[in-house]
Amino acid sequence: MPEITSIQSQARQQSEASIGQPITRTDGVLKVTGAATYAADNHPAGMLHAAMAVSSIAAGRVTGLDIEAAKAHPGVVDVMTPDHRPKLFKDPDERDDPFMFRLDLLQNDRVRYPGQPIAVVIAETLEAATEGAALLKPEYETETPLVGLDAGEAFVPDGVGPGEPAESGVGDIEAGLAQATRRIDATYDTSAQYHHPMEPHAIVASWDGDTLTLDTPSQAMTIARSRVAGLFGIDADHVHIRSPFLGGAFGCKGMILSPQALGIMAARLVGAPVKLVVRREQMFGPVGHRAPTRQRLELGMDDAGHLTGLSHHVRTSSSVFDDFFEPAASVSHTLYASPAIATTYEGVRVNTGTPLFMRAPGEATGSPALESAIDEAAEACGMDPLAFRLANYAEVEPISGKHFSSKRLRDCYAQAAERFGWAGRNPQPRSMRDDDGLQVGWGVGTATFPVVMFQGHARALIRADGSGLIETGAQDMGQGAWTALAQIGADSLGLALGHTTFRAGASDLPDAGVAGGSGHTATAGNAIHNAGRDALDKLAELASADPASLLHGADRSELVARNGRLHWRGHEARSESYRDILNRAGLSEIEGSGTGSPDQAAQEQFAMHAHGAVFAEVKIDPDLGQIRVTRLVGAFAAGRVINPRMVESQLFGGMVWGVSFALHEHASVDRRTGRVTNADLAGYHVPVNADVPSIEAISVHEDDTHINALGVKGVGEIGITGTGGAIANAIWHATGIRVRRFPIGIEDLLGRA
Ligand code: MOS
Repeated sequence: MPEITSIQSQARQQSEASIGQPITRTDGVLKVTGAATYAADNHPAGMLHAAMAVSSIAAGRVTGLDIEAAKAHPGVVDVMTPDHRPKLFKDPDERDDPFMFRLDLLQNDRVRYPGQPIAVVIAETLEAATEGAALLKPEYETETPLVGLDAGEAFVPDGVGPGEPAESGVGDIEAGLAQATRRIDATYDTSAQYHHPMEPHAIVASWDGDTLTLDTPSQAMTIARSRVAGLFGIDADHVHIRSPFLGGAFGCKGMILSPQALGIMAARLVGAPVKLVVRREQMFGPVGHRAPTRQRLELGMDDAGHLTGLSHHVRTSSSVFDDFFEPAASVSHTLYASPAIATTYEGVRVNTGTPLFMRAPGEATGSPALESAIDEAAEACGMDPLAFRLANYAEVEPISGKHFSSKRLRDCYAQAAERFGWAGRNPQPRSMRDDDGLQVGWGVGTATFPVVMFQGHARALIRADGSGLIETGAQDMGQGAWTALAQIGADSLGLALGHTTFRAGASDLPDAGVAGGSGHTATAGNAIHNAGRDALDKLAELASADPASLLHGADRSELVARNGRLHWRGHEARSESYRDILNRAGLSEIEGSGTGSPDQAAQEQFAMHAHGAVFAEVKIDPDLGQIRVTRLVGAFAAGRVINPRMVESQLFGGMVWGVSFALHEHASVDRRTGRVTNADLAGYHVPVNADVPSIEAISVHEDDTHINALGVKGVGEIGITGTGGAIANAIWHATGIRVRRFPIGIEDLLGRA
């Protein structure tokens, strides 16, 4: 298991806190030198390779597989099918919590979606396994698949997202809309999208009796561990997951999905360690996606430009066998003050893999629709889009009626607008051109994301040599979590970063909760903060009780930890090193433990969100309709900044995904077959460097004393919100065309200008 000791001991860190320093990634050298081992880099002795065969139809039955042909291929060891697989101890179609999803583990011959695993070939080499899988040549009995948002009868889902109500609201929406003097009624479509981290799902599974060791990327090792234990009928303590590095995740590695479970089954079947890596095109099926949405926004305004009603209705799809409904309307609960708000949903079932949490689930889809509608409302009222947003600023959260724990959105608007130069905008659409004759458009979108915290734990050690150790099973998806958490750890122990070892990324360490919901730093960080404080409390107690100590008799509240010493406040001459205190007590180390979890009382009292404002400039070729985003300026208030460099790059990342949502990402689903027709990264576009403009992300200072002890909110996902809408609104400003579907393409502009 990697241990990361920061090699950066810049002088300033000897005397100042680590928190707030823009240090580079502590695991950066490991990554750029190839020394960081990702799951699939682990090759235990005797390891075999597994390849999945997946369904090419969307609905029906598998009636034949040429198992003999696959087995005859040199190097093929075995072929796992519904008739030949290890026993499972839990029905993969059972589910008992919102973070558990139904799996396809060869339980029968049914096909429920395209790309569903239907067999696994195990071989001595990857090539043999892959060829063996190709030789299976499945035969099917095909049924007509359910495809698209109009596939079948709509119903009101039992819940949306991780169990939110499908209907919420405040006030009388009919009356609110009826009393309006101006109205917007617009419908926005968003596409199916697939997560596509650079590292696909991968697993190396090794059984030793009833003990299972897994190398697999995981955003939530404890959840994964109990899921695996349940499926295989073993004790959760017998499942050891190592996940030190992830090549991205975006939500799809939040839980064990079918391919990982199949890798474990394959290892059980052949009695040897097995590696299974999902191929890129196989990522379009069994590992989740963002469902398409169709969102109807009805807004009513009075003559003064105040909202009188806001209705946000979402139609979205889930699979034919499981429930996950993209919670696209939740953004309307919190952002704009309206006396009447209604958010409602309808679901349809289609032959697709089950959708999942993906990059700001709900907000990512809802924000571009709401922010577009808000812009249309501003236009209907003859108001500047920013002025309209300020006129409808919610001082308390509209649906819950709660005050915000803190809200610096006005500062976000002001700082980003100033930096962008919004005051120079000509309000007329189609009024701005650059020197090359390109149409120029400026747009704004409001960003918001809830403050999510899970429960996490950490352990902290102060050792007799004066060094520290922090342990927590935290997951680093690439965002820099190890770095930020190590900074918190060093400060929690009153040590320089270079004197603190940080150990994470394994399920045998204290559970750090979920690296998701933008809540990992808040969760694991507060656990670490409390663990360090607990260790220091014990150390202070030792010193205070020791008549030989200079700190004898000191009250804990008077002792300050700094640079490996405890100082008695008000008695400048009185301080002692950790080393001396421990050595005198004859101890080799002292241990503390801590938990990070949401403060229920504060949560009941306050609405907790991060906020932001994003301004976008686009340039559009008036003849070709080609759209380029040329400038993005965002300002975000997300609580305390642990590491400004990591925070900025997280915000950049989110804003790039916003560009992606607005202009690129689109899984094209064949209406007849239900298959994704662009199932590779050549056809499924994400922004590349040439698509990414100049981006600025301003962190707006915010002290939120209610959310948690560290004051950390979260920056993982908020950048994607606001950005998509800002770009759509800039496109309108450039062209005068309101495009109401995402991603926006040339075809939406050509011939309409
Ligand atoms: Mo994320 S969709 O919270 O991993």
